[in-house]
Amino acid sequence: MITKPKGTYDIYGVQAKYYNYINNVFATVCEYYNYEFMRTPIFEDSALFHRSVGETSDIVSKETYDFKDRGNRDLTLRPEGTAGVARAFIENKMYGDVAQPKKFYYMGTMYRYERPQAGRFRELSQIGVEVLGSDSPIIDAEVISLAYRLLEEMGILNVTVKINTLGDHESRENYREALVKYLEPHLGKLCSDCQKRFATNPLRILDCKEDKDSDILKKAPSIMTYLNEESKKRFDQVLKYLSLLDVDYEVDTHIVRGLDYYNHTVFELVADIDGLGSANTLGAGGRYNNLVGFLGGPDTPGIGFASGVDRLMLVLQALNKDQEIARGLDVYVMAVNEEERLTALRLVQDLRWSEVKCEMDTLDKGLKAQFKQVDRLKARILIILNSEDLQKGLITVKDNLTKEETKVDEAEILDYIISNL
Ligand code: HAM
Repeated sequence: MITKPKGTYDIYGVQAKYYNYINNVFATVCEYYNYEFMRTPIFEDSALFHRSVGETSDIVSKETYDFKDRGNRDLTLRPEGTAGVARAFIENKMYGDVAQPKKFYYMGTMYRYERPQAGRFRELSQIGVEVLGSDSPIIDAEVISLAYRLLEEMGILNVTVKINTLGDHESRENYREALVKYLEPHLGKLCSDCQKRFATNPLRILDCKEDKDSDILKKAPSIMTYLNEESKKRFDQVLKYLSLLDVDYEVDTHIVRGLDYYNHTVFELVADIDGLGSANTLGAGGRYNNLVGFLGGPDTPGIGFASGVDRLMLVLQALNKDQEIARGLDVYVMAVNEEERLTALRLVQDLRWSEVKCEMDTLDKGLKAQFKQVDRLKARILIILNSEDLQKGLITVKDNLTKEETKVDEAEILDYIISNL
């Protein structure tokens, strides 16, 4: 038997319900916030990710699916969505549109060669947004509150937004220098990954999972001391707007994020579900004011976030949300002979196109077996067709909650069902 590749899984049954629910709620919320849907390719020129996400990031140094196609092109399965959206913005000259900023949302699969564990997959699904063309702290607050409220809308409460700022270039460079000076004498006590990061991207040492509890990192200098006036003012404004929008945030100066393109605001949305461990990080994002320029477009500020759908599914499952989100069957139409079946077939179609979720038998089952099926499917209303009634133009309807039976005029059946659901 051929089995699925490591780090992937099939989404069906109750998980499929969660998956669709999450994507649907996300799309609805994004439309209210006036974001436009964008789809970018699942594979892109390798240079796009290697340059933008950064050669020193874990994602690019260890986790990309790189391959050559039959035309010898270097391609990479997308590990995340931001770079593709930035590329599309530049390539389609959206910076030239009169209406700015451009606000996009996306949903789709990403690929990372990670060590699979709870909530960590090689094929993962993300929902995310990107706003290009505005540097306003109001947009930072909008993006963060969208992410936060989205989780709330799905019934995922007790989420904390952990937020930090990396400041502008000047602040970050000053901080980097101070951090390097502080860490150098302690380097031998940090993990081997941190020793490598020290040379390539020392800020990333701050969010190392292995060393996170070490005193060395706890006592490290804070970025807050090194922010210049402008960066500090900007960060304070973002926090002020978040309070106004009732977002539960916590400043955490150890959040630096694993992707190279960030500056100013960076954040993570963290839940507190037992047993999920690091998969409690349900979403993350930040500002990237230099990415579009870096990729060859005109200087354009940007900010966004992405959330892991697979993790949201695990959380919804842990919170037992399936009854709340799954729409049960509204109507089951019972028919056993050909005349009844013809009526049933037509009726089922009419009901479906009247937004009623309904089903009929297609396995030539007898009446008893159909009743059993009705129980399994938990239909709310039963339509029991029989030839005798039909000759009189009547249809028997049974309310499966009250168990009451009524005979309804055939011509009025649609209206009757709709008004009784
Ligand atoms: P990221 O932190 O790499 O950021 O991923 C965002 C979210 O995707 C994570 O918080 C997590 O929920 C989920 N995720 C990441 N890796 C996995 C995995 N292997 N399995 C399951 N879920 C995973 C980004 O991707 C940035 N593009 C976010 C962003 C948008 N920044 C600005 N705009």
